[in-house]
Amino acid sequence: MEYIAAAAFGLEGIVKRELKHLGMEAKAETGGARFSASPVEAFRANLWLRTADRVLLVAGEGKTLSFEDLFQLVFSLPWEDYLPKNARFPVSGKCARSRLMSVRDCQAITKKAIAERLKRHYRTQWFPEDGPEYPIDVSIHGDLARLTIDTSGTALNRRGYRTWNGEAPLRETLAAALVMLSPWEKDMPLWDPCCGTGTLLIEAAYLRSRRAPGLTRNFACEAWPDFPKKEMEGIRREAEAQFDPGRIGMIGGSDVDPEALTLCKRHIKQAGLSGKITVMQKDLRDLQLEAASPLFLLNPPYGERLSDKKNCEQLYRGLRALSDRHPGSRMGVITAHPGFERCYGKRAGQKRRLYNGRLECEFMIF
Ligand SMILES: C[S@@+](CC[C@H](N)C(=O)[O-])C[C@H]1O[C@@H](n2cnc3c(N)ncnc32)[C@H](O)[C@@H]1O
Repeated sequence: MEYIAAAAFGLEGIVKRELKHLGMEAKAETGGARFSASPVEAFRANLWLRTADRVLLVAGEGKTLSFEDLFQLVFSLPWEDYLPKNARFPVSGKCARSRLMSVRDCQAITKKAIAERLKRHYRTQWFPEDGPEYPIDVSIHGDLARLTIDTSGTALNRRGYRTWNGEAPLRETLAAALVMLSPWEKDMPLWDPCCGTGTLLIEAAYLRSRRAPGLTRNFACEAWPDFPKKEMEGIRREAEAQFDPGRIGMIGGSDVDPEALTLCKRHIKQAGLSGKITVMQKDLRDLQLEAASPLFLLNPPYGERLSDKKNCEQLYRGLRALSDRHPGSRMGVITAHPGFERCYGKRAGQKRRLYNGRLECEFMIF
């Protein structure tokens, strides 16, 4: 079966790399990476992908110029191969640059066409919808409609450790991507001097300790009869055995805000990493680490409001001083502030355009 590991714009290539690492050949495309897999492999992708938002089973695709085309396309697909008689199948939708402007109508037509197809197959007029959930999405881009079934359920960034959000937290998937794109080498200390609620620190520790990001959560496909329970359970057990907190090494963070640090400590505990990550209250302008040649990795304030701009620019100058106080250190910063390099007083060695939610940012390595 064909799947798409959906991801934020800019992360498609890294998702493809992750899939390759899991033994699956994938092709990057806008908004994700496409791959062929068995149900068990799709489950493995859900459990292990760090940078993808969802794993979607592609039910079908086709040209749709009218609502009638959409109905016929959806009706022609073998929904009975996926959905049991008691399936719950909520339909979500999105349309971009399409003649079919009404997302609501597209959702309603999709739901109706699936129901009509299933009525014929199961020879019934009524479905209880009290069984496992199969979240269906109809996504229309230009003249092309794509029908998918979401194997993940809750989005993959919900690892289970973050129960409280602080000020502007990073999405777990983006945080994992920053760690993977950074020049973090074995035995190199990693420090986030604006750690907030701790997302970067936890994702870094998960990566180093080979901790599957989805280890303590469930996925929609686990309740589906066609997905083999025993094999999925086996893959989970294997993942549990791979988690090795002894590999974490020196990971730590600091922040000026004591409330953010309270959340950070709570999240570290909920992530099962108590005692493995150092955190302290400190203004980055006063920070002095004993560790040699650390990697500073951070998501500082962007100064979006005019009133914050000056403070923010001062903070960026403070970051340069932090780097100068730590000979041999490297710095990885994501920001939407266009004047970062000017304030930092240096050009980045590498830059990559990424999105933090809707904000266009640059991830810079110094
Ligand atoms: C965008 S948030 C970081 C969010 C974090 N990545 C997370 O996932 O929760 C920026 C953080 O920088 C901190 N901060 C601002 N000025 C600072 C300073 N001078 N020294 C240290 N931390 C500072 C703020 O308290 C805030 O927690």
